[in-house]
Amino acid sequence: MSVTSESAVGHDELAVLKLLALEGGLEGDLKISCSHLADRLEASNQTASRRLQRLESAALLERDTVSDGQWVAITDAGEQVLHGEYEDYRRIFETDAEVELEGTVTSGMGEGRHYISLPGYKRQFEDRLGYEPFPGTLNVDLRDDSVRRRSAVSSLEPVPIDGWEDDERTYGPAVCHPAIVETAEGDRYENAHTIAPERTHHDDDQLEVIAPDKLREQLALEDDDHVTVHVGDRR
Ligand code: CDP
Repeated sequence: MSVTSESAVGHDELAVLKLLALEGGLEGDLKISCSHLADRLEASNQTASRRLQRLESAALLERDTVSDGQWVAITDAGEQVLHGEYEDYRRIFETDAEVELEGTVTSGMGEGRHYISLPGYKRQFEDRLGYEPFPGTLNVDLRDDSVRRRSAVSSLEPVPIDGWEDDERTYGPAVCHPAIVETAEGDRYENAHTIAPERTHHDDDQLEVIAPDKLREQLALEDDDHVTVHVGDRR
């Protein structure tokens, strides 16, 4: 990802942000002095101070200067930038990674059935996933920690589903990932996929799963049942 276009800070500033996070800057206010920071960066006080200023102007850091130093706190935007770096490193080192997401089965608004059955998508599912999906999506309401962990899915290689159009409208692109659905009792369904619009919000708390079979029947699932979805790389 490009740090500069997103936050107007460069790698030098990013290194400072990382250092502050390592010192506990994500947990809340952190008291630092410019000379301490300068030591850690092996740079001058002036340089350290300028980098902090840039981080503040880019809204990645909040600062409050006091007589013997300053209080700093990394903002949500700052955390997102660091998380983006983390995802890049995941991608580099964890080539066959898997992301485990947990939640409870829930009912949607019956839209899944409609979309999954549309010919422009159905053709691609057959070609790229190797099956004709059961018409619908199993909705999983993700736990808070899984909502956060979900952003790691973007470092896995997806199966892309292209957008298409008919006479009336256009339908957006989507991404699928191979997925194993596991129940609280340990029953597993191996041949499923997660599906999400290509431009999805990382903090979306609903996970949608498709499969050749009706998962509620195969796994005896009902609303509010706990499931773990093991999301994997394209294979
Ligand atoms: O949106 P809603 O949950 O009402 O349903 P849908 O997407 O139209 O899917 C119809 C039903 O099949 C729902 O109860 C889904 O949870 C379920 N389903 C399933 O069990 N296995 C699938 N592979 C897809 C959907």
